[in-house]
Amino acid sequence: MVEFSHRLCNQCRVLGQTVTVYHHPDNIVRTYLQVKKEMNMEYQEAYRKLEAYGQLHVLKYFEELSSGEKEALLEQIENTDFKVLEKCLHREELNPRGVITPIEVMQLAQIEKRREEFTQIGLDAIRAGKVGAVLLAGGMGTRLGSDAPKGVYNIGLTKEVFIFQRLVENLLEVVRQADAWIPLYVMTSDKNHEATTSFFREKNYFGYDPDYVTFFMQEMAPAADRNGKVYMEEKYKMSTSPNGNGGWFLSMIKWGVADKIKAAGVEWLNVFSVDNVLQRIADPCFVGATIATDSAVGAKVVRKNAPDEKVGAMCLEDGRPSIVEYYDMTEELMNAVDAQGEPAYNFGVILNYLFREKDLEEIVEKKLPLHVVEKKIPYLDEEGRLVKPESPNGYKFEQLVLDLIHELGSCLPYEVVRNHEFAPIKNRTGIDSVESARELCRENGIAL
Ligand code: UTP
Repeated sequence: MVEFSHRLCNQCRVLGQTVTVYHHPDNIVRTYLQVKKEMNMEYQEAYRKLEAYGQLHVLKYFEELSSGEKEALLEQIENTDFKVLEKCLHREELNPRGVITPIEVMQLAQIEKRREEFTQIGLDAIRAGKVGAVLLAGGMGTRLGSDAPKGVYNIGLTKEVFIFQRLVENLLEVVRQADAWIPLYVMTSDKNHEATTSFFREKNYFGYDPDYVTFFMQEMAPAADRNGKVYMEEKYKMSTSPNGNGGWFLSMIKWGVADKIKAAGVEWLNVFSVDNVLQRIADPCFVGATIATDSAVGAKVVRKNAPDEKVGAMCLEDGRPSIVEYYDMTEELMNAVDAQGEPAYNFGVILNYLFREKDLEEIVEKKLPLHVVEKKIPYLDEEGRLVKPESPNGYKFEQLVLDLIHELGSCLPYEVVRNHEFAPIKNRTGIDSVESARELCRENGIAL
């Protein structure tokens, strides 16, 4: 009789494989050899792939790894797109810009005249369950310098006021106004998923109904040094970082969230960043204006406080809606004026967009441009010790949500009052910091 069980066989233990062990010496040997052969093949494939991209240093510690670690590294190599790493060697050739011209913005005075009409349209859409909110919380917030998700940062002075809490409280105001729940989708990454979801649970979702909160994770991309060599963060793990906020809809599809959205009848998705603590989410007037103007996307914008302020400015690029990044703003663009003599590129985006779901589906297959971004990347030094750099030491590869705008046919740039709706927390101190955001909260009567 042949007995068998699923367990680690003594010889296979070396490889960390659970195998079906037949109680017959020949079979044990055969199983062991088979597993070893498979592992060898994977190793050879990994070696060839790394060699082709000049990344063989990834295998530097392979021989000293445990079998489980070896497996993990081989799997990571198999799943990694090393082609992106070449991009940092040709940064200047990336993403050439088209012809930039001004775009018309719906300004405060125009909005005021139609506020009631827009608000009613927006509230009707919210009550009909057509509006969802997407919180982009997959970033690493390296400038803030905390390893925790940015949303768990406490900006309170006399009491706890977490960034996530501020955002949820803002959304709850609209929920009360509309007397209807707004589904909230939260994008996390491999680096902060567990910490984010457990924080929401621990804090009872800050009063939001958990049935209306869905988490999903974004994709990761390798992070490299200045020569395009991928960094290692463990001897068995290449450094990776979230691949930017541009892939959020694709990640929703991969996680099956997009299907749920459609089944629930959600037609509009208000995407917003985690770090603006005055962020108005699912703002009925903004929703209504975007619907009333039959735009594929609405983009909240603020008047720039200086021509060279570090925010992306709304524009047309080759006749299509687009955003010109602050580092692409030439002197000529900064000094350009419109027919009224006003600066022509005076409205900056604040990462608050309302996308029409069906339009996103049409463009989802399109490849967005890849941005090579300088960041601080923890890495293993020559001796295999983990180093956390104080200043940028390499590149991450990101797709950006603003590039989605250019793919869509129509966009409504919608002005909001800067001091009422824009308090980003990017840095520890100075511009766009916890300090400046606290000051703006005070100005808006928010107790901290
Ligand atoms: P930032 O551009 O400020 O990037 O993100 P960041 O990675 O959080 O911060 P730094 O540059 O390292 O200091 C703008 C918004 O996009 C989200 C962030 O969470 C934030 O809400 N984001 C960014 C993602 O969701 N995924 C990413 O991969 C990057």
